[in-house]
Amino acid sequence: MEFYQLIEGRETIRVYDTDRKIPDEVLNNILNAGRLAPSASNRQPWTFVLVASKEKLSAVKATYQREWFQKAPYIVVVVGDKTKSWVRPKDGYNSIETDLAIAMDHIILAAENEGVGACWVIAFDYEMLADAIGLKKNEVIYSMAAMGYPPEGFQKKGNKKRRLLEEVVRKI
Ligand SMILES: Cc1cc2nc3c(=O)[nH]c(=O)nc-3n(C[C@H](O)[C@H](O)[C@H](O)COP(=O)(O)O)c2cc1C
Repeated sequence: MEFYQLIEGRETIRVYDTDRKIPDEVLNNILNAGRLAPSASNRQPWTFVLVASKEKLSAVKATYQREWFQKAPYIVVVVGDKTKSWVRPKDGYNSIETDLAIAMDHIILAAENEGVGACWVIAFDYEMLADAIGLKKNEVIYSMAAMGYPPEGFQKKGNKKRRLLEEVVRKI
């Protein structure tokens, strides 16, 4: 898909065809886009946890109790190791959250490119999610994404609400 069309057409999708599997090749394409994301000093401090088993899906879904989320066929949790990410020497700023956000954005855009619906989620219960996926020492989570094909006949809203370009650009 043409890049600007993809950016303009992408929207959060919270309704999924629960019976339709995403082929491994498509899942790999999506996760590989995350792998190829840039990160500060190219540290790549991430792991992409693909939640696909019935048991783990149910544990992860319990961390965000929205009706639509309970129907997600797949969930990707982007996990980072904050001892591996770049730290700015002067003030100790750790780039982990930025790195993980970029990786997630690559994943979400790749899902769109594959025709897979996705919704970025941060309003989860952190402790429950850490427990559900077996988060390791030094690892942190900032977001997960629900994923699945939209049901047949699904229509996007097509009414992107964004501030105007002149409102968000400051030329100095
Ligand atoms: C960092 C981030 C966190 C988000 N967290 C949630 C969430 O917890 N639950 C949810 O339903 N949507 C969540 N969203 C989706 C946003 O609500 C959505 O991207 C926004 O309303 C713009 O709509 P669009 O993605 O269709 O353009 C999140 C999006 C981002 C980028």
